[in-house]
Formats: sequence, structure tokens, C-alpha cells
Amino acid sequence: MNQPDYSKIEVYLDSNQEAIASYSPPAQMELDTSKLDDGEHTIKFVAIDTGNKRSIKKINFVVRNGPGITVYGLKDNDVVEGKLHLLLNSYGGAYMEKWEPARAETPAPIPTWTWIVFIGIVVWSMYYFIDQWSPTGSFAETPTYQNIRHEETNEANNIKTIGISGSEVYRKSCSSCHQENGQGVPNVFPPLAGNLVVNDNDPSKHIRTVLFGLQGETINGTLYNTPMPGWAEQLSNEELAAVINHERSSWGNNGRMVTPEEVRKVREEGK
Ligand code: HEC
Repeated sequence: MNQPDYSKIEVYLDSNQEAIASYSPPAQMELDTSKLDDGEHTIKFVAIDTGNKRSIKKINFVVRNGPGITVYGLKDNDVVEGKLHLLLNSYGGAYMEKWEPARAETPAPIPTWTWIVFIGIVVWSMYYFIDQWSPTGSFAETPTYQNIRHEETNEANNIKTIGISGSEVYRKSCSSCHQENGQGVPNVFPPLAGNLVVNDNDPSKHIRTVLFGLQGETINGTLYNTPMPGWAEQLSNEELAAVINHERSSWGNNGRMVTPEEVRKVREEGK
């Protein structure tokens, strides 16, 4: 046990030359900040041992006994112009008898639009969910709903196209010439996007072309000498209906859907 024996600790505040207190350690002291001005202060402790050696410890601190202040609408170093609408609040303060939480909660304008966005999202998701189950009119003929529609058609007409993806057939058999995006190749392979035959309400020319091929036709002002091969040998009525419907509902096209039954009839009529 060889503790240094401090005989005295003196306490100084700010630049005061006179000690505000003197203790023989160990000691407890109370610092009443309510007697101090708000702002920065320094407290200094000087310990003096029996041999009159001194050591000094300084601590800087900030006193704030007044109320807190919040300002919405302007921050440090903001670049601003015109009129500003600032929202001010002050709360607390060490002297207040009772802490009143409501006073600390500045009525910021955020909650209003948060609620609107939140309700909007909820309403939209409910709408979307319901809409998924019964696509209406124009949506029913998009690729997304074709399977659903085909299943419905199947029930009515007993036609089997379930499991055949028109876009898959297109990718394998047609996209090498007409391109994945339906734009074709200028002067060599005609675009199917916006094509009159593909959007024609009467699908018989569309079906006939895909079944038996085409050559030397002028399409939208361009003469094509390259031949379009027929697919009657390679593709079933179901696959042909699926790929034709894919073309009729992709790239902005909006032709009426065809059934394998219609393809069968054209196939039997022959070229
Ligand atoms: C080898 C290239 C090639 C392939 C593969 C091909 N086509 Fe074509 N297609 C053409 C050419 C070339 C024409 C234009 C023929 C003409 O007018 O002389 C054409 C024309 C068409 C037309 C007629 C457009 C109009 O306005 O008359 C349709 C519809 C069509 N193709 C659909 C398909 C479908 C569906 C497939 C896949 C099953 C397919 N094509 C595969 C080259 C191709």
C-alpha cells in the first residue's frame, strides 16, 4: 500500500484566480450549473501533495440550462432563395418542473404525405391483387394473361394449348429472321411489330402465311425477295396458334387471338 497522500485538491472555474472550493481527498463536490451562464466553461482541479508538488487537470464543458431550439426549413450553410417557411419549436429547459414530451415533438409536416403515400401503396396493391385474378378487356390478350385465357377457352372449346409458350416457339422458329424484338431486318425480313397482317381482325392471312410461307410480297411499301418458309410440317396447330397469338399480342400489336381450331381449318383448306 503505497498511495500518494494528496493533502489538498483545489477547484477553479474558468479564468478565476481564486479557487471556488478546496477539499482533502477523497471528496465529493456539487457543481451547480444553474449559477453559471449558458455556454462554454472550463473547470480546473489542482492537486497539491505533502511535498508541495502540483498536478493539474482541466475539463471543458458546455452549460445549457435554457430551452432547446429546433428549426425546420433551414440548416447550417444551406443555399436558399426567395421566401422560406421555417418551423420553430423550443422545449425543455432544466428548470421546468415537469417534462412534457408533447412539447419536444415538433409538429413537422412529414406525417401528411407519409400517410398519403402509405394509403396509396395499400390501395394499389389491393387493386393489383384483385386485378390479377380477373384481367379485363385489353389486358386479357397480353402475353401475361394468355395462359389464363387459354385455360378458359379450353373449358369452353375443349382446345389444348396449355403448356405451349408462344414466345418460346417464336424464339426457336421465328426470331432468327424477324428478331426477338419483332423489328425484322430492313429490306430482308419484314418487321412484325405494327404489321397490318398481324393486327388484322381477320387472322386468315396471318395463319396462311405462317402455315405455307410467303415470297415476293410487298409489305408496307417494301418488296421482299427473301422467302418466308412455311411451318405446316414442323409445327402443330397448337404451336402455330400459340406463336401467332404471341405475335398478335407483342411489341404493341393488338390483333384478336386465334384458336388451334382456326389453324386446323386453314391447314385443311390448303394453300
Ligand atoms: C428464314 C427467315 C424467316 C423465318 C425463320 C420466319 N420468317 Fe416470317 N417472313 C420472312 C420473310 C422474308 C417474310 C416476307 C416474305 C415476302 O413478303 O416475300 C416473312 C413474312 C412473315 C409474315 C407476313 C407479314 C406480312 O405483312 O405479310 C408473317 C406473319 C411472318 N413472317 C411470321 C413468321 C412466323 C410466325 C415465323 C416463325 C414460326 C416466321 N415468320 C419465321 C422470313 C422469315
